[in-house]
Amino acid sequence: MSTDLPSSHPDAAWWRQAAVYQIYPRSFADANHDGLGDLPGVTARMGYLSGLGIDAIWLSPFYPSALADGGYDVDDYRNVDPRLGSLADFDAMVAAAHDSGLRVIVDIVPNHSSNRHAWFQAALASAPGSPERARYHFLDGLGDDGELPPSDWPSHFGGGAWTRVVEQAGPNAGSPGQWYLHLFAPEQPDFNWDHAEVREDFHTTLRFWADRGVDGFRVDVAHGLAKDMSLPLRSKPSLEILVDDGTDALFDRDAVHEIFAGWRSVLNEYSPPKAAVAEAWVPFTNRRLMYARPSELGQAFNFDLLQAPFDAAEFRAIVQKCLEEAAASGASSTWVFSNHDVIRHPSRYALPDGSTLADLEAWLLADGRVPAPDLERGLRRARAATLFMLALPGSAYLYQGEELGLFEVADLPASALQDPTWFRTQHLVKGRDGCRVPLPWDAAEPNFGFGGTPWLPQPAWFAGKAAASQDGVDGSTLEMYRSALGWRRKLQAEETLEWLSSPADVVAHYRRPNGWEVLTNFGAVPAALPAGVDLSKVILSSGDAPSGAIPAETTLWLTP
Ligand code: NOJ
Repeated sequence: MSTDLPSSHPDAAWWRQAAVYQIYPRSFADANHDGLGDLPGVTARMGYLSGLGIDAIWLSPFYPSALADGGYDVDDYRNVDPRLGSLADFDAMVAAAHDSGLRVIVDIVPNHSSNRHAWFQAALASAPGSPERARYHFLDGLGDDGELPPSDWPSHFGGGAWTRVVEQAGPNAGSPGQWYLHLFAPEQPDFNWDHAEVREDFHTTLRFWADRGVDGFRVDVAHGLAKDMSLPLRSKPSLEILVDDGTDALFDRDAVHEIFAGWRSVLNEYSPPKAAVAEAWVPFTNRRLMYARPSELGQAFNFDLLQAPFDAAEFRAIVQKCLEEAAASGASSTWVFSNHDVIRHPSRYALPDGSTLADLEAWLLADGRVPAPDLERGLRRARAATLFMLALPGSAYLYQGEELGLFEVADLPASALQDPTWFRTQHLVKGRDGCRVPLPWDAAEPNFGFGGTPWLPQPAWFAGKAAASQDGVDGSTLEMYRSALGWRRKLQAEETLEWLSSPADVVAHYRRPNGWEVLTNFGAVPAALPAGVDLSKVILSSGDAPSGAIPAETTLWLTP
């Protein structure tokens, strides 16, 4: 730890406009050929990662876990799953990243542990009312015999949010007893954040990884930690947040900010201070930005573009609002189109305009066949959206495989599916496995160079998408990402932009303070160039080279 004043460190703001690449470790690269990606696999690919032109990697959980929710069910917050490596492998990975000029962000999962966590095991083995139970939310059930759950709260993965235990201690040992809360899978019991030991333990975890050289943290379900557990529990039959005043029973409660102010104090013990980004699915941007204040985490994911239709006016409005609010709160904005929880964006954009979340789920359930996706169009739009986004002020979060133009693997056989959503909805919602299929590195190698037989099967079409097949190929999605990230680093400017007018409504046109210009034609036919645009300055196109017009569904970058 350095004794410099943290905020005066020359690197204190590295994260504000970083390009961050998300690694889902079990699906990235498998060095020991057991079919599960691992940390040595990440280390072995560090050259590929730094060659992309990113600034940081973010690793989804690599902690010991039974994988009831892909690793977001953590058994031990201060260790590495032995199937993924060891703490020494982790240190080697961080050292390799730093040697390559990359920062490292790790995922922290504070809303819930796994049911195998030592504290939860101790809670199960203890009687109702014991101190061991107090670190989670255990309550007696309703009904004459406590046979009904304490509230009507649903779980995110389907079914209810309460599970009843068979008591192991106390006068009722051997009989059904209390219920515990899990807003996600039953294997993910929610912590009680009013408990001082829970708060302290997470400070210990932050310091544990920060001391090992980690540069930042991604905070899972940041908006869920504070809950109104006063009895009787309030009814909340849907997990949607409908109020923007901090009084929802479960999410985005005002009390959560006190927790993150405490985290900021810990993060500021380091020089430069450690960065953090909140995953807070809060629909109200003014509330979401509270997590991102400098006195809290610094950034919050903004999923607005990810959820928006491919439309110039929508994109412009979202960007404008998010930038204004980020500036007002002192945060920097974040942008993202794909991650391990959503259908990959080239597939989303391949579906009919106006598709809702329910339509996307139905499409997945139909193995990606109905409606038939227009894959060419989907990828064309995805590339245009990505170039539009990579020039915006703020941080860009990229998800492994998007640089290869991967589509969702929508037709995974039912027998391969692992997402708890699939099981908890009685096979009505397929879930997120289709964006988590292990990456194709080289079509000439077994398992496309991933390693052993992958834990989710790779489709044959991965061959054409493998990194080696795109390496050095002009116009490939991989080369487009590399060029864009390279230019982004050279052209990065102050955190603002100016909108320029365009004769066509379907065109969004903006300029960064140094003159870096971006034009996106969201329309299906070529659009006229705005007056004064000099095509000789085009340094990058997401599609065809422009000749007198902006090609359909294409973004152009112009050098200052
Ligand atoms: C958000 C994570 O991104 C997701 O993958 C996980 O299932 C839930 N939080 C629960 O931890």
